[in-house]
Amino acid sequence: MVKAVIFDLDGVITDTAELHYQAWKNLANSIAIDFNREFNEELKGISRMDSLNKILQHGGVADQYTEEEKLELATKKNEEYKGLLIHLKPENIYPGIKEFLNALKQSNIKIGLASASKNGPAILDYLQITDYFDTIADPDSVINGKPAPDIFLKAAEQLGVSPQDCIGVEDSEAGIEAIQSANMYAVGVGTVEVMRKAGADLVLADTTELVWDQLQEAFTAKVNG
Ligand code: BG6
Ligand code: MG
Repeated sequence: MVKAVIFDLDGVITDTAELHYQAWKNLANSIAIDFNREFNEELKGISRMDSLNKILQHGGVADQYTEEEKLELATKKNEEYKGLLIHLKPENIYPGIKEFLNALKQSNIKIGLASASKNGPAILDYLQITDYFDTIADPDSVINGKPAPDIFLKAAEQLGVSPQDCIGVEDSEAGIEAIQSANMYAVGVGTVEVMRKAGADLVLADTTELVWDQLQEAFTAKVNG
């Protein structure tokens, strides 16, 4: 039986994946590294420092920066990103998300957040949906980031629910892998190729397809084999 739905944030609840893309692209270009959308897919779900390290590797300059300089670069990106976030409003919540959250509440399903972002709580506040969440797993409280299952397991633990009774919702390859490793049912929002390759149990084209009754049926069908 489904007892909780645990959400990723960036790219699932709102379009902050696009704001991350813009800020990383500007940062990469400022140090003469090419940055395109295909490469950006690899950064989705990945922590800030891991993302920076991947970008520097991609540019073949990973060994040219000290840890202190890397921290400065990551901070520069985050400052630009935070400047973009202040424009976020409830209207920026993806279509269907509020309806889905309301349906979960009505069915007494617990709601958790398992985002790699340290900006997660601020984003929920800008969108005015903090109160829907029964728990927010702090990315600083887990050792391994996505694709490791840690943050999803942390959210389930905080909710007091077994992983096999949870549905995880993600837009990134790393996130889908994390949900699968956590032994939860993985719902991928995005393109079929990317989400199936990552191992999603169910692929939805966009968030308007997050319909509680249908999701419950799909979950039950998998559990019953
Ligand atoms: C994830 C995003 O949700 O959070 C990544 O998909 C991002 O792109 C990561 O790097 C960390 O976010 P932040 O806000 O802590 O830099
Ligand atoms: Mg995401």
